[in-house]
Amino acid sequence: MSEDLKRQAAARALDQVQPGMRLGLGTGSTARHFVDLLGQKVAQGFDCICVPTSEVTARQAQSLDIPLSDLDHLDRLDLTIDGADEIDSELNLIKGGGGALLREKIVAAASDAMIVIADASKLVQTLGRFPLPIEVNRFGLGATRRAIEQVMAAHSAQGALQLRETAPDTPFETDGRHLILDAFFGRISRPEALSRDLLDIAGVVQHGLFIKMCETAYVATPAGIEALKRPQP
Ligand code: A5P
Repeated sequence: MSEDLKRQAAARALDQVQPGMRLGLGTGSTARHFVDLLGQKVAQGFDCICVPTSEVTARQAQSLDIPLSDLDHLDRLDLTIDGADEIDSELNLIKGGGGALLREKIVAAASDAMIVIADASKLVQTLGRFPLPIEVNRFGLGATRRAIEQVMAAHSAQGALQLRETAPDTPFETDGRHLILDAFFGRISRPEALSRDLLDIAGVVQHGLFIKMCETAYVATPAGIEALKRPQP
């Protein structure tokens, strides 16, 4: 059921893709459906060029013969389609549950528009129930960790900071060979201030708050697809 809803959201996003577009391809189980559907279109002769946001997505796209490029060869992208772990009413997001947040943010920032696709379980009043992924450099991990904990305390975090692991004593490694610390806030009441405070820490490479980056979300519910737009200031 949930996979079916994700695929419906992906299909709706595919309707927005025009021939000749330069696309950012997201990462995760919902974005995977989009790449799969795009691959079917490409097999019928559809023209596009894509930049993947992870090695996993790159491999999927290659297996479907989707033409790939990168941000060294393409100046801007027309559109990025990606999933999200949380979406608030202003279409601010938490991303990075799959660990691809750095490339996802670089690609989204190089895009003229971003569409998020998700099922309704991702909608929240306030961000923060999902632990915020923070990508950090391996060097100085202890110092970076303490600095993040201070920021968490200043932002009234309700939970702890955890090093993401794939197995006990085996840290998860991102495509950029960094580590991820998952920060359990419970509630993020000032996302923009939190973003700034985290990026001020020397060892922080990037975090999973995507603020004012997404214009449209297609959210699949059993009753159909809801198209949400970011409120204009
Ligand atoms: C990958 O790093 C993430 O940002 C994903 O886009 C996000 O976790 C959503 O994934 P699902 O579509 O699998 O829920």
